[in-house]
Amino acid sequence: MEAIILAGGFGTRLRPLTYSVPKPLLPVMNTPMIVGIINSLPPEVDRVVLAVNYMAKAIRDHFAANDIGREVIVVVEDEPLGTGGAVKNCESQIRGKFFVINADVITKLDMVAYLAFHNNCGGIGVLALQEVEDPTRYGMVITDQNNSIQKFVEKPGENEIVTNWINAGTYILEPEVLEFITPEKKVSIEREVFPVILEKGLYGFKYVGLWKDAGTPGSYLDAHALMLEAEVAAGLAKTTHLLGEGTHLDSGVELGENVCIGSGVKIATGCRLSNCVVHDNATIGKDCILDGVVIGDRATIGNGCTLENDVLVEAGATVESGAQLSCGARVRQSKERQEN
Ligand code: GTP
Repeated sequence: MEAIILAGGFGTRLRPLTYSVPKPLLPVMNTPMIVGIINSLPPEVDRVVLAVNYMAKAIRDHFAANDIGREVIVVVEDEPLGTGGAVKNCESQIRGKFFVINADVITKLDMVAYLAFHNNCGGIGVLALQEVEDPTRYGMVITDQNNSIQKFVEKPGENEIVTNWINAGTYILEPEVLEFITPEKKVSIEREVFPVILEKGLYGFKYVGLWKDAGTPGSYLDAHALMLEAEVAAGLAKTTHLLGEGTHLDSGVELGENVCIGSGVKIATGCRLSNCVVHDNATIGKDCILDGVVIGDRATIGNGCTLENDVLVEAGATVESGAQLSCGARVRQSKERQEN
């Protein structure tokens, strides 16, 4: 069985992190998010098809260098074809029913139960649904009592909300769905394909549990918080901290809640970190306060910096000593290109 992983987006909302690393390779819990998704797939999936465009080489190189125990096929789009066009572009790799998964979905969805649900329903496909407090940012999915999808409402207005179940970006589809996608055209599977195949039997698999689309700075940090808290709740960790191999914290470094630090990171004395993700081989000078921050790999933070509230530092970038950055500040590799 195949799983198509949609990994060709530009990841604009996570810039400047995604200027140097494609979003699917950004780490979540110190593992590239796309690898976490692949590892969650059921054993039936023996072939993973990566639909890529932006920074395709980096993704291809990663999988050439790292064996994930499944056959990996990289299908490159010359131009981004959208979520539907990308799936159609992978048609020649599909042998039967297949998964389609957005590469930025962080979830503990039970893929085995999900596949069993699809096999029972017998429809043309199943969409994993997730309940959210505010569906206005997402695609609302209305089902009947048999979980058969009746209607989609994209980004509903406040007065249109009739359900809190949304499309969670994870599908199991029969190959027949491919007949409804025009080849070599930019097509959105959510907006242009699913609504027209409703009468073929499209079902919703309602999932209650950890789910986060890690596509924005806030949700990328939230995804970590949820995963770290889940580790504690499961008794796998005592604190909401994760530290990679070879990482060194000087004495006097304080870690608050939800801190994920990659490998080979150096943090000097007097630093206080909370709600942070620090990628591999970053260096943080003494007496820094970091809260609500993502530091890219090999980035350098000088002494006495305060970075708070949604600050992103690109891989390899430098923050000068004494800098005070907050509220959505972005630091790029070269000073001329710094954005605020
Ligand atoms: P933003 O630019 O921040 O919106 O991010 P994005 O480009 O990743 O878009 P979005 O988060 O909506 O995409 C959801 C998933 O679909 C991500 O895993 C993307 O990599 C993927 N995706 C989006 N558009 C395309 C496309 O044209 N081709 C392919 N292959 N994947 C896509």
